[in-house]
Amino acid sequence: MTEFILSKENVLDYFKFQASPNLPFKVDINAPITFKEIDKFTNVNFLFRVFFLKRNGNDSSVILKHSQNYVKVKPEIHNDVQRNHTEAKALKRCSEIWGKGVVPEVYYHDDKHNVNVLQDFGENCLVLADEFDKGKVHPEICKILGKRLAVLHSKTLGKNEILRKTHTIESVFREYFLNFKMAGSMKVEKKETLKLVNEGNTAKGALLWGDPVTKNILISMKGVHFVDFEGAFLWDPAFDLGHMVAHWVLVYLEKDDLKSQVEISVNIIREEYKKEMLKRIGKKEIEGILQRGNNYIGATLLHRMVGMSRFKIPKKKAEKVLQTGVELLRSEGSYL
Ligand SMILES: Nc1ncnc2c1ncn2[C@@H]1O[C@H](COP(=O)(O)OP(=O)(O)O)[C@@H](O)[C@H]1O
Ligand SMILES: [Mg+2]
Repeated sequence: MTEFILSKENVLDYFKFQASPNLPFKVDINAPITFKEIDKFTNVNFLFRVFFLKRNGNDSSVILKHSQNYVKVKPEIHNDVQRNHTEAKALKRCSEIWGKGVVPEVYYHDDKHNVNVLQDFGENCLVLADEFDKGKVHPEICKILGKRLAVLHSKTLGKNEILRKTHTIESVFREYFLNFKMAGSMKVEKKETLKLVNEGNTAKGALLWGDPVTKNILISMKGVHFVDFEGAFLWDPAFDLGHMVAHWVLVYLEKDDLKSQVEISVNIIREEYKKEMLKRIGKKEIEGILQRGNNYIGATLLHRMVGMSRFKIPKKKAEKVLQTGVELLRSEGSYL
């Protein structure tokens, strides 16, 4: 365990004395400062939203995200504490690639205490995971999603760009991360899963978001925002694409009344992705990515059914998801 743990007890002092002098704006530390712990949609890290006044009198807030060398809700599981550093680098890089307002600005990275002080997109953001639970699959944001993923992938494809210090550290992370994300798939279809990972090893890599899941996609009055980049890594772009689209496919398999909306959404993501990729990447290469993207949809369905991130679903539907997962993992399937 590292000595410092950001907690309800010390977060105000931390903000006042350690964070605020390092922020790119002036904080009125004599005015009231309050906080709320964020515990929905996070199991791994320690997150707080801090409310304060700027010296110019304006209300403001920031997100503090702290990591330990273990998983918050399961302290017996080790996790690399450096992920906080990687996330700060990933957010800065993605902000260069996507422009402002997409991912949170990193106001301050505190390497000693493993805290990132981040731009807050606001308490009133809709989290796409919540929206999905309410039966809202938001086809209107899919154009943005497909395009952004393709911009990130096509601009970094084949450039061998890593965020961690060395290629060795990067490959240790990749192995750890794929073990986690592909455990369900390995359990059900070891041979096909190893084949897919092998294809990923030989395919051209790009900088990936790594965790393009609905709890990391936020919608505010200002647009669509992405958070949580500690899993960003160099790998086959098909992973990001399949991983993201799998969330819509899960709804398709679970809720009959949403099928047509899901079809529209997935079509838009695919078409925008292709269109944007074509600006920089050859057709054949894109076809390969889409093909393997299908397989990663399958792997992600298995991750959610029998892997490390289980999804609660009625038994009858669960069989269908499992079966589709296996088919897509093997397939020339038709989602992408
Ligand atoms: N910059 C931000 N603005 C608004 N909400 C945020 C921001 N960062 C995180 N959140 C909220 O906190 C949740 C957890 O944050 P995240 O970075 O995904 O942590 P973890 O890595 O532990 O999953 C997100 O799902 C989102 O609801
Ligand atoms: Mg998250």
